[in-house]
Amino acid sequence: MAESKNGRYAHIVGWGKYVPNKVLTNDDLSRMVDTSDEWIVTRTGIRERRVAGPKDTTASMGLAAAKEALERAGVRPHEVDLIIVATATPEHVFPSTASLIQDALGAVKAGAFDLSAGCTGFMYALTMGNQAIRSGASEIILVIGAETLSRIMDWKDRATCVLFGDGAGAVVLRAGTLAAGGVLATLCRSDGSGGDLLMLPGGGSKFPASHQTLDQNLHTIKMNGREVFRFATRIMDKSAREVAAQAGIPIENVELIIPHQANLRIIQAAARALKLPDERFFVNLHRYGNTSSASIPIAICEAVEQGKLKPGDHCVMVGFGAGLTWGAALVKWGEPVPLHEPTRLERVYKRLLYIAAGVRSRLVRGLRRIETLLGGTPSPKPTRIDKDKQPKK
Ligand code: UT7
Repeated sequence: MAESKNGRYAHIVGWGKYVPNKVLTNDDLSRMVDTSDEWIVTRTGIRERRVAGPKDTTASMGLAAAKEALERAGVRPHEVDLIIVATATPEHVFPSTASLIQDALGAVKAGAFDLSAGCTGFMYALTMGNQAIRSGASEIILVIGAETLSRIMDWKDRATCVLFGDGAGAVVLRAGTLAAGGVLATLCRSDGSGGDLLMLPGGGSKFPASHQTLDQNLHTIKMNGREVFRFATRIMDKSAREVAAQAGIPIENVELIIPHQANLRIIQAAARALKLPDERFFVNLHRYGNTSSASIPIAICEAVEQGKLKPGDHCVMVGFGAGLTWGAALVKWGEPVPLHEPTRLERVYKRLLYIAAGVRSRLVRGLRRIETLLGGTPSPKPTRIDKDKQPKK
């Protein structure tokens, strides 16, 4: 087993998800591009996906998932040490979506950053969270995967627009000892030589937004589906085996595999390569499509809800995506935190907590503005540099 040297392990003690209300079916898509329900189902297994409404953003969906996960964990926002948001569709390039969520939660002592590893983002974020807990740097960490892929989609490209969906999932990691389970092993890998196989070329520092990038449609997903498919089928079973070996758990003793929900054929190929029955793999891609970083945390929530992930189970999670990147984790599922139905008073208290976070945020912004108006932040006076002290040319 990948033993923790100081006996500290990260436990998943809370989980939550948010998916937008709007459902886009394959039939809906067949009225938008030259495709059919039959093609999409046989090639991918996807039947429908969720699409963000006008008020949904990566931060708003991540926030909703985070609140549910904190609620389940019985953790208050001010107890969180670190918030990591895995996303390929951040609210802005900066500030980070994680900081926006930290502010909205009122997680006043938490650090916050976004992590970019394509659809593998959640596996990378879980790994970082696990390591921060094992090292003793953090006690409680929120790990979120959130995506609004519909906003970077080329809705005229049938090869990509049928695949993706929007949503968010979150887990709360808490430090503990091994007895109740925990994250036993993780791995993160990358092969940047395949970067061009799946990318969003425009809007970064290489091709900053311009009329030209818009004319060339560089702000939408470009993918070589066949090559990504080949890569995915090669790494899924290998990384599942590798992470299980690292944890010292024979792969046939793993009760559940939660794979990145990209394509049913990729999942079935992994099942064959691992010589495991298809039922051992959790699948919900028929309802949500590929939600990138959000796909594994949403699947965790639904696997627990459906009783497919039970205390004591060994679960392998495995993701792959742009970069190219891939990652996996073996988690021994712990005892669920007894979830008591919150009393009316507790519900009111929680609502007040989030209202207070909003008020606090507005107050701090207001104070900052007043301080600036009153000239309260002195800028350093320019100092004269003597000629003889200036660097010689
Ligand atoms: O998180 C990682 C993200 N990406 C992935 O996981 C994607 C991995 N790749 C895949 O899942 C599959 O490669 C796809 C689902 C994208 C495509 O399936 P495929 O079996 O590899 O199809 P293909 O790309 O080989 O295309 C077969 C045909 C082509 O027509 P021709 O050239 O044979 O005449 C495509 O133009 O299917 C056509 N096609 C479509 N037809 C109807 C492509 N997209 C569609 C469509 N509807 N939506």
